[in-house]
Amino acid sequence: MAAWRERWIGWRNARLADPGFQRWAARFPLTRPVARRRAGRLFDTVAGFVYSQVAAAAIETRLLPFLQAGARTVAEVAAHSGLPPAGAARLVKAAAALGLAERLPGPDERWALGADGAALIGNPGVAEMIAHHRILYADLADPVARLRERGGSLASYWAYDAADAARGNPDAAGAVAAYSALMAASQPGIAAAVLDAYDIRRHGRLLDIGGGQGVFAAAALDRAPRLAATVFDLPAVVAHIADPRLARTGGSFTTDPLPAGHDLVSLIRVVHDHEDAVVAALLARVHAALPPGGTLLLAEPMAETPGAEPIGDAYFGLYLWAMGRGEPRSAARLRFLLMDAGFVRVREHRTAIPALVRVLAATKAS
Ligand SMILES: C[S@@+](CC[C@H](N)C(=O)[O-])C[C@H]1O[C@@H](n2cnc3c(N)ncnc32)[C@H](O)[C@@H]1O
Repeated sequence: MAAWRERWIGWRNARLADPGFQRWAARFPLTRPVARRRAGRLFDTVAGFVYSQVAAAAIETRLLPFLQAGARTVAEVAAHSGLPPAGAARLVKAAAALGLAERLPGPDERWALGADGAALIGNPGVAEMIAHHRILYADLADPVARLRERGGSLASYWAYDAADAARGNPDAAGAVAAYSALMAASQPGIAAAVLDAYDIRRHGRLLDIGGGQGVFAAAALDRAPRLAATVFDLPAVVAHIADPRLARTGGSFTTDPLPAGHDLVSLIRVVHDHEDAVVAALLARVHAALPPGGTLLLAEPMAETPGAEPIGDAYFGLYLWAMGRGEPRSAARLRFLLMDAGFVRVREHRTAIPALVRVLAATKAS
């Protein structure tokens, strides 16, 4: 099978790399759409960093809320952003090309908020993520050097170990504040997707491990008011939880006992941050803490998601490498780890946007 596939790949690649074939494929009506799609995808790969930087400039200059408040001329954008008029003109045109802005018809060249700009404003977590990527891109500025050595500045941004080691030390709160705020900003969309996919009303007590500032647990209570919810995270993180409905336990899931008595445990965007050995031990401890028939909900973006492959192994693959730990895993790999930890059944619950988050529910034997 592998030998046959390798021969086919060799034959196909020889055609695709041949300039004569490329010219023919771009003209022949049956291959033209494929050739165009392939060229577009390749160009996105080449230019993706520049697109991201246009978005970053739009966020940093607060261009999008400015356009949301009313259509503007380039001179107004320049005055608002502090950019020279030529730079402001280049930014609004680039933003429009990406759907973030939109040129209005008419001679006075005014710019409105674009459809993707509106979607971005409606999703504050995305804007925070774009701004946060400054650290990631600095880490990836020399990608080969980065691949030689795991862990860049992102490793100190995600200061799990430092915060764990510094328990009780007030400095630990500073170490986790930035990532906790970033996670809280991006969590509402994730929580809605998970809770739309999995009906938690059948459960009585939820333990959200690595639950950050409690955004997911609070969203769960909004859906299931009879549920009781506890958030377990590092002590410096749970100290920030403000919602009085949430119980909290500060500790490390690698060394401290997990609170028992919960029929539902969730791990939302937690497992991909850790190595296989840590994950295997954590899943086994969750299994032990659950009552018979209890459920573990594991939700995160996964590798090899059809149609979203680049988000898994390209984006999260390099992000987590720069962070110095963890890896994106496929649903099949996670299923294997869950069964290995003792769970008897693993079911996937489909989410509306699998590129962002997928949900596996694993059951302990009753
Ligand atoms: C990527 S964040 C996800 C937070 C939240 N579940 C969400 O989706 O927004 C990972 C969380 O795991 C927590 N964490 C990491 N290592 C931990 C450990 N050893 N024990 C407890 N929590 C830990 C971090 O503090 C952080 O809040």
